[in-house]
Amino acid sequence: MIIECTPNHVHHADRDGALAVWTLTAEAKFPQLRHRIETTGGVIAGSLDSRAMSTFTMDTSTSRATPSPVPGKRMTAPSIRGRKVDRQTEQPIVMLTAYTMRMAQLLDPHCDMLLVGDSLGQVIYGLPSTIPVTMEMMCAHGAAVVRGSWHALVAVDLPFGSYEESPARAFESASRTMKETGCAAVKLEGGEAMAPTVEFLSHRGIPVIGHVGLTPQAVNILGGYGARGREEREAEKIIADAKAIDEAGAFCIVVEGVMEQIAERITSEVSAPVVGIGASAKCDGQVLVIDDMLGMFERTPRFVKRYDDLAERIGAAARSFAEEVRSRSFPTSEQTYRPKT
Ligand code: KIV
Repeated sequence: MIIECTPNHVHHADRDGALAVWTLTAEAKFPQLRHRIETTGGVIAGSLDSRAMSTFTMDTSTSRATPSPVPGKRMTAPSIRGRKVDRQTEQPIVMLTAYTMRMAQLLDPHCDMLLVGDSLGQVIYGLPSTIPVTMEMMCAHGAAVVRGSWHALVAVDLPFGSYEESPARAFESASRTMKETGCAAVKLEGGEAMAPTVEFLSHRGIPVIGHVGLTPQAVNILGGYGARGREEREAEKIIADAKAIDEAGAFCIVVEGVMEQIAERITSEVSAPVVGIGASAKCDGQVLVIDDMLGMFERTPRFVKRYDDLAERIGAAARSFAEEVRSRSFPTSEQTYRPKT
């Protein structure tokens, strides 16, 4: 059970109730220090993976962005879970995907959770699906998003192939993700088949967000990205999936691309908050892929609302720049270094 978890300070109570305090701050400052875990039963020392040491903070003196507001207390898995009481959520949960430090800074004050989704495969890398996404991609972008945020809980997707084989394999991937990024939770796709994995991770200090309905990593089984649950049998299966990972201990469940009645039933029948994407307004919260809602792509699924038309505006800015370079009207003296007179 996690009592409290911030990027620099992790309090973890293990299954025997022994309190272990891992203080990463000192180790980040003094890399020669050994990773020390103090338990009531004695002192255990092990070397801390060097990759985990430099990812957690941003140097605001060298950043181009205005420094973030004074760091406060981040949203935690228990605080998100606690938003749903007796199957009711008073304040809907707001979640957006983020893949970069700067985008995280801009979204963070408005969101309860930032999701470093494996949708970055398509959105950032131009891949045909999320299947080829790697742990390295997820960890690099996850660390950037943690650096750019101070308020929202950051969750990172476990990529295809990194967790399905066994709970132990999932623990290896999830713990690596948390060490290398500083994120406070992972998300994984799947229902009943993944319930033992969700339970394994949640009992070992890893908060898990489940993901059911349209699960993009299963595109080759599903045969496409169409909405799920039009038929009774499939609808019942999706509801059973959500219940299984709820009972296994997921602190939040993403439900994607399902008929409204399915989302409504899941939301009223599971105890964890349900965050929908293409799953109607009947959920406890909503998530969208940031590039979709900003209008970065010409084509978006029907459930996306575009809150801007950034593709058009970026194209217009690039056109102006190109015209000014070609006409030699950029740069002007304002953008030119000259010796002081
Ligand atoms: O990868 C992703 O961005 C996601 C969201 C669509 C929920 O899983």
